[in-house]
Amino acid sequence: MKTYRIAAIPADGIGPEVIAAGLQALETLAARDGSFRIDVTTFDWSSDRYKRTGALMPDDGPEQLKAFDAIFFGAVGAPDVPDHVTLWGLRLPICQGFDQYANVRPTRILPGISSPLAGIGPGDLDWVIVRENSEGEYSGNGGRTHRGMPEEVGTEVAIFTRVGVTRIMRYAFRLAQSRARKLLTVVTKSNAQRFGLVMWDEIAAEVAREFPDVTWDKMLVDAMTVRMVKNPKSLDTIVATNLHADILSDLAGALAGSLGVAPTANIDPERRYPSMFEPIHGSAFDIAGKGIANPVATFWTAAQMLEHLGEQAAAARLMRAVEKVCADGILTPDVGGTATTRDVTDAVCDAIRGSN
Ligand code: NAI
Ligand code: MG
Repeated sequence: MKTYRIAAIPADGIGPEVIAAGLQALETLAARDGSFRIDVTTFDWSSDRYKRTGALMPDDGPEQLKAFDAIFFGAVGAPDVPDHVTLWGLRLPICQGFDQYANVRPTRILPGISSPLAGIGPGDLDWVIVRENSEGEYSGNGGRTHRGMPEEVGTEVAIFTRVGVTRIMRYAFRLAQSRARKLLTVVTKSNAQRFGLVMWDEIAAEVAREFPDVTWDKMLVDAMTVRMVKNPKSLDTIVATNLHADILSDLAGALAGSLGVAPTANIDPERRYPSMFEPIHGSAFDIAGKGIANPVATFWTAAQMLEHLGEQAAAARLMRAVEKVCADGILTPDVGGTATTRDVTDAVCDAIRGSN
């Protein structure tokens, strides 16, 4: 029997609540399928650890993670620690250190969940956003000088490399090719950003020639927000820079009903390092500890993790269970219900056990 070694990093706020739910579903699936096991090691890397020791994770943290098949991540961020400290202290060093350059964010309206878009229901919005996850506007290139003085300067340099853009473009075209509609929209802002993003457009056209069966078009990011709201059916697979896709995927999550149902996978497509799976949402201080965090995003990212590990049947079983529970109206308050995290998790586990 196959055993997958999973590193769980629940971290902050609702992170531990949704990761516990996700692990319960994964254990239930493993028991139901009987063809694989999961061996989970939980790490206490978090803002609490930062407050105790001065670091979110130990210096050799990434080294410790290398031995795992996948990383299952909650959310990081605390009200009394600056967000750039928490993000750069834990999540980004893992993404960058493991060259998880493809950030894959599927969005669909699940049955039983209503979109804020009038007249749009399940089937009308079925997207996968591919976010470039290693460079662009979040590469970490920049600095500050003359701190505190009137002439203070802060720079945040967007880095686009031919290697980085080509590989994400190939990943996106390949993904689009694997989906029924074979449709890709390339998002840039190459009117105003006339160097890196014009190169992005040129590389898109080059890579497109390798995929003659994929239909593709280009959008400027501002116009893209309008198209996502006004004509969601016209989109399928979407590729954008780190910053642009970060923003567009939050919008996508909201249009699909809630950030609480939006998953993401940070993938190293070459499989040199473990990939990392997480809900898109953050640590949600406003609801932490109340037992009402929506675990659906975490279930969905657990399904992405199973797919990446090669357990397609278990991944599909998990998504069928989630869709059944949503359709049955067992929903947390963020999507209009009154159920708790535990209610939804128990119902999903029951549906897994009862599935054929
Ligand atoms: P957030 O995603 O934590 O919360 C935004 C809103 O969505 C809140 O009203 C929250 O209650 C709701 N929400 C989010 N997830 C939910 C769920 N599963 N169920 C029900 N409702 C949910 O974003 P916010 O408030 O901007 O950030 C809070 C902290 O999280 C900050 O420190 C931020 O830096 C951090 N953060 C971390 C991320 C990560 O670890 N990948 C991603 C986004 C934010
Ligand atoms: Mg974001």
